[in-house]
Amino acid sequence: MASSACQIRTPMQVKKAEFVISNTDIKKCPAPAMPEYAFIGRSNVGKSSLINMLTNRKSLAKTSGKPGKTQLINHFLINDSWFLVDLPGYGYASVSKGQRLEFAKFIKKYLENRENLMCLFVLLDSRLKPQKIDMEFMQWLGEKGIPFVMCFTKQDKLSKSAAAKNLANYKKEMKQIWEEIPPIFLTSSIDKKGQDEVLRFVEKTNKLF
Ligand code: GTP
Ligand code: MG
Repeated sequence: MASSACQIRTPMQVKKAEFVISNTDIKKCPAPAMPEYAFIGRSNVGKSSLINMLTNRKSLAKTSGKPGKTQLINHFLINDSWFLVDLPGYGYASVSKGQRLEFAKFIKKYLENRENLMCLFVLLDSRLKPQKIDMEFMQWLGEKGIPFVMCFTKQDKLSKSAAAKNLANYKKEMKQIWEEIPPIFLTSSIDKKGQDEVLRFVEKTNKLF
């Protein structure tokens, strides 16, 4: 039978993914001539793993079971046309001070000044209830007018019903602060959940550059 006229188009394919540079100085980042997407969140939430999953690479970004692996601003060039950026986690150094929002000055500078940053992916562990540090960070993004989406990671680590319950709870808490909740992605670096959705989002957003 002939295929229907309204089939879903396959998302962009990642044909090329290469490491460009690591640094702590926004001035040394690649020229802001292409759209860029950065990944942030608490240490160990799965930022580097998600970058590998999206690009179908095993170790483009360095991952580790121990928190604090990524320490620099890492630029990856995708399909010669857009950047993915792996950032260090926040919150790691501040645990002893009672989960105070704290992240390196150079990350703050990067987020406030990177002109081609189309959107920041704020990664959140699907298993956890809303954490004060993440809520505060997103509030800070709101104050600064930095566009972001929420990305719930490690979906493979909990049941569908638990994931749905946690998500509903998260949305409820967000609604107490935000008039509108940013776009939400559900991902797993193990089974590639969310890969199409994120790549479609990037493809669409790239057109706005
Ligand atoms: P830092 O660089 O230290 O801030 O951490 P990160 O956020 O980059 O986390 P990373 O990607 O290094 O992953 C941390 C740990 O979580 C590793 O042991 C990963 O294998 C594991 N992990 C990451 N994503 C997933 C996922 O989707 N599912 C499961 N089951 N494990 C994951
Ligand atoms: Mg990392």
